[in-house]
Order: sequence, then C-alpha cells, then structure tokens
Amino acid sequence: MNRFDQNALLDRLAAIGRLELAMMPQLGEAIARFHRAAEPRPDLGGAAGILRVVEGNGAGFAEYGRGFLDQALCRQITTESRAELDRLGALLDGRKTAGFVRQCHGDLHLRNIVLLHGAPVLFDAIEFNDDIACIDVLYDLAFLLMDLWRRDLPRHANAVWNTYLRCTGDLGGLAAMPLLLSCRSAIRAKTSATAAHVQHDEIRAAELRALAQEYVALAARLLHPPPPRLIAVGGLSGTGKSTLALALAPSIGAVPGAVVLRSDEIRKQLCDAQMSERLGPEGYTPELSARVYEAMAARANAVVRSGQSAIVDAVYGRNHEREVIERVANDANVPFAGFWLEAPDAALIARVEARRHDPSDADASTIRLQRAQEMGAIHWTCIDASRAPDAVREGVERWLETLAAGR
Ligand SMILES: Nc1ncnc2c1ncn2[C@@H]1O[C@H](COP(=O)(O)OP(=O)(O)OP(=O)(O)O)[C@@H](O)[C@H]1O
Ligand SMILES: [Mg+2]
Repeated sequence: MNRFDQNALLDRLAAIGRLELAMMPQLGEAIARFHRAAEPRPDLGGAAGILRVVEGNGAGFAEYGRGFLDQALCRQITTESRAELDRLGALLDGRKTAGFVRQCHGDLHLRNIVLLHGAPVLFDAIEFNDDIACIDVLYDLAFLLMDLWRRDLPRHANAVWNTYLRCTGDLGGLAAMPLLLSCRSAIRAKTSATAAHVQHDEIRAAELRALAQEYVALAARLLHPPPPRLIAVGGLSGTGKSTLALALAPSIGAVPGAVVLRSDEIRKQLCDAQMSERLGPEGYTPELSARVYEAMAARANAVVRSGQSAIVDAVYGRNHEREVIERVANDANVPFAGFWLEAPDAALIARVEARRHDPSDADASTIRLQRAQEMGAIHWTCIDASRAPDAVREGVERWLETLAAGR
C-alpha cells in the first residue's frame, strides 16, 4: 500500500535510527485522544478475549513453529499466561464493565503510524474483526510499547507510556501489563511463524523463523517482570528532578519502565489547567500543595501495588511529605530509595530562567522561597546535581545498584 511516503512510516524511521524521542509525547497524546473518542464495547474483550488470544497463540506455535520454535518454551508461555489470566480475570472483566474495552485500533504497531506534517497519525485500524479491534485500551497500547521495546527503544516506549498515562489517568489496569505485553509479542511470534511456513523464498523464510524465535523469547521474558520499587526524587526547583526522573524511568522495573508521577502535572490537573498554563497564587496555597502530595502518594500506592515501579518527582521540602511517600513503599512492602538533589542557587536560577515548555512554574523567586523554608533533617541520599545530566543519572543508577545488592 503506497498511500503515504514509505519513509515517513514510523517503523522505517526506527529502522534507520531517525525516530525522534521528542516526538513520543505527541504520539502518547494522539493515542490517548484516539482512545477517548473510541466507543465502549462492553460486549467484547475482558478475560475471555485474552484467553482466546493465548490459546490461539499456543495452537499456532504447535502447528507452524514445529522444528524451529522451542516447543517447551511455547508451552510454558501458554501455561503461565493462563495462570496470569486466572489471577487477573476479574480485573480485566471489571475494566470491560467500566468502559475500558473500546472499539480500538487493534493493530497499533510502528508500521501503522505515519508522520504527516511533523505529527504522528494512526492509520489502518482494524475494521473487519470486532474480536481484534474491540479490546482493552491498554492491550491496544501494549502492541506499540512492545514494538518499541523489542527494537531497543526503551526511552521511546517509556515516553509514550508516561504521556499516555498522564493524559488518561488510567492506572487501574497496570497489573495486567506484563500479560498484555507478552500476548502482543506472542502474537507476533505466531504470525511470523505462520508467514515463514508459507514463504517460498528460503532466505526470507529463515529471517521470519529467526524473528519468531526472538518474539517467543521476549513473550516468555515479559511474563517475569522484576519486582516493583518506589523511587523519590526531591530537591529545589532547577536541581533537575524532572530531567533525572525521565532519564531513569526506562531502566526501572517492568517493561516499559517506571511510571513517573510529577507534582507539577498533578497540580495542574487538580486546578483543571493546561500543562503549559501558568497558575496564580491560588495554585500554590498550602491546602492545594497538601492535596498534590496526597494525590502523588495515592497514585504511587496504586502503581506499586499493581507490580509496576514508580518515580515520584516533587520538591519534598517538608519532613512530613518525605515520610508519607516512604510509608507508601513500606506499607506495600516495596523497596524505597529517596534522592535529594543539590546544586548552588546560581545554577538553579540560571536553569529555571533558561527553561522553556515545562509544567513547572518555578522561577528565581520560587527558589529563594524554597531555600528559606525549614526542610528538617533530610535522610535521603544526597546527589551532586551541579554535574551534567548524564553524570547525575549515572550517579543515581550506581546508588540503586548498591542498594539492590545490599538487600
Ligand atoms: N544536570 C543538569 N545540568 C544542566 N542543566 C540541567 C541539568 N538538569 C536539568 N537541567 C536543565 O535545567 C532546567 C531545570 O531542570 P528540571 O526541569 O529537570 O528541574 P526540576 O528540579 O524538575 O525543577 P522544578 O522543581 O521547577 O520542576 C531544565 O531546562 C533542564 O533541561
Ligand atoms: Mg520538575
């Protein structure tokens, strides 16, 4: 099909290393918009829909994967997916009743997204098969996230994921993500194996068999996510909390990386404001700030209890605020790591003054006010944030490794 310039298809751009990370938030927003407009279809999907996929994949592996797919591994995927479905069936069915099963895209991978006038546009949605198209919105999104991940683009996957979650607020289905991502990889394994079976060109057939093997291995791995953790990033405005949180997230926890919860975004949501809108003093009253920290803690709690990792990004200038977020981790029995970023005021002021397009409203006067505030004793790990962003991230990653090794 040549409706579009083939070089503007996102899979082509990814293949030549030209898929811009900076475009991924736009893509996450486009998918969130698409899902918002999609018609609920509570008559389809749910646990029964995923079970059909799992069984179909299992049958496909046995029939078309003979001789080149590890059949023991294939059977293991089917058995473990069924067990996951036993655990998650009620959640998936509840989401169906609650309106999260919709007339979705159904085939949302990079090849079905094109860059038109600089904006990502979804095309070729499934229109001929309701079982494929009428699915949980997170299962729809999982196809793209898996596709980005297997192409070794974790930062892209994580950026789409976090933007999507910010736009939709849909944190209720996170526990199903390992299964949904694995199913997407398993489907690709099955379709690649089937295509290899009917392919007469032996070189192409060998490529398809290798691809099927790769997808089977990924489907198996995705069913065994690492345990969740909660990471807090605090410090004055301009220390680089949001920069660090976004840079860390792709390598933290289960695919597609940690969920980042930002106080500035939550504050704007609570004020019903656009992310780019500057709030007046009414947005910064002690009462509103308390609600922001409460919402952060509640969301972090939902994320880690669903098995995903969270990074919370806020100033955390008060003892009480730090204690509450630590308690979330302790009560959920999830490891906690708190980092406190420090840099000289002159650097902070220069950074916030140079910053553009950020949900934070902080300026030089905010930094002076924060400095004057009573912080209490800070027990989080102090990080020298006057270094370059990569050095800050690497320093924190080393700490996280040390903490993990010490447990
Ligand atoms: N280590 C760094 N070195 C130089 N510049 C940085 C560094 N970290 C972040 N920046 C830049 O400084 C500005 C402020 O960073 P960032 O928005 O991450 O700070 P923040 O702590 O989240 O601030 P706020 O509390 O206002 O949200 C951004 O423009 C960012 O690109
Ligand atoms: Mg910030």
